[in-house]
Amino acid sequence: MFEERKARILAITITMGIQKGGCGKSTTTGILSYLLQEDGYRVLAVDMDSQGNLTELLSGQPANDFMGKSVLEAMQHGSVRSYTVPISENLDLLPANNFLATLPRWIYTGKTYQGESIPAGGNPVGILDRALEEVRNDYDFIVIDTPPSLSEQTTNALCASEYVVVMFECSNWSYSAIPNFMDSVSSANELGSRDTQVLGILRTMNDVRRSDAKAFNELIAEDYPEEVFDTIITRKAPIGRLSLYGFNENAELKHALEQYRNFYKELIERVKGQ
Ligand SMILES: Nc1ncnc2c1ncn2[C@@H]1O[C@H](COP(=O)(O)OP(=O)(O)O)[C@@H](O)[C@H]1O
Ligand SMILES: [Mg+2]
Repeated sequence: MFEERKARILAITITMGIQKGGCGKSTTTGILSYLLQEDGYRVLAVDMDSQGNLTELLSGQPANDFMGKSVLEAMQHGSVRSYTVPISENLDLLPANNFLATLPRWIYTGKTYQGESIPAGGNPVGILDRALEEVRNDYDFIVIDTPPSLSEQTTNALCASEYVVVMFECSNWSYSAIPNFMDSVSSANELGSRDTQVLGILRTMNDVRRSDAKAFNELIAEDYPEEVFDTIITRKAPIGRLSLYGFNENAELKHALEQYRNFYKELIERVKGQ
C-alpha cells in the first residue's frame, strides 16, 4: 500500500491517541512530524486538541496567535489549504487554539463561535476527513494530535486516519483506558471511510526506576502482543524541556531523540509492510 500510495502521492494519515492526558501524545506527534520531515517526507501536522500544545511546540508561538486561522475554521469552511502554516521546508502545521472546544456545538447547531450560520452537513465524524481531501496529494504523511477525551475532535481525527498509534503511559489508569479507545478505533473503522486501524501501541513516559511501570509494560505486551512496538519511551528531561527550547539549535536533544528514532524506524516498517 505504501509504494502504491507514494506513487499516487497520497498522504498516509496517522492519529496519535488515547483519551487520557499526560501520555506523551503531543510530544510524540511533534517528534514524529520532525523525524518524518528530516527524512525528506512532506508532512502536515494537524492539531485537534484545543490546548494547542502541538501548535506551540512546532510553531514556537502562542496558540492564541492562530485565532480565526486554525483547524476549526478549516473544518467549518471545508478547506484546509489556506489555514496551513509553514514550519520548515517539508513541514506544515494546521494549528489549534481554545476555540476548537466549540467544535461539538457548531456540529450540532450549525452556529460558529463567531455567530455565523454554517451547517456542518454530512457525516459529523467525517468533517476533518472531508476538509483534508484537498491537501492529501500535497503530503506524504498527515499526523494528527488528539485531546485527552473521546470527543468529536477525537472521532473526527480517527475517521480521517488510516492508522492510529495508541499511546500507553505505563500506569493503571492508562491501562483501563485502552479497551474503550480500541473500541473507538473500531467504530471509526465502521463509521468513517478510511478503514481506520491500529498501527501499534507505544509504551511511553516510562520511569526505569519503577517496578510497577515495568509490570504494566509487560501486561500490555501480553494483552496486545501484535500491537506493542518493541521500543519503550522513557522519561528524559530534554524531552520534557522540548516545549521550552523547541527543535532548532537544541544541543541536548540529539541524544534524547535516539529512542524516538527507534520507534520511528518501527513505525515506517509497519507502514511499508501493510
Ligand atoms: N519522554 C518524555 N520524557 C520527559 N517528559 C516527557 C516525555 N514525553 C512527554 N513529556 C512531558 O510530559 C508532559 C505530558 O506530555 P504530552 O506530550 O503533553 O502528553 P499528552 O499530549 O498525552 O497530554 C509534558 O509536560 C511533556 O513535556
Ligand atoms: Mg496533548
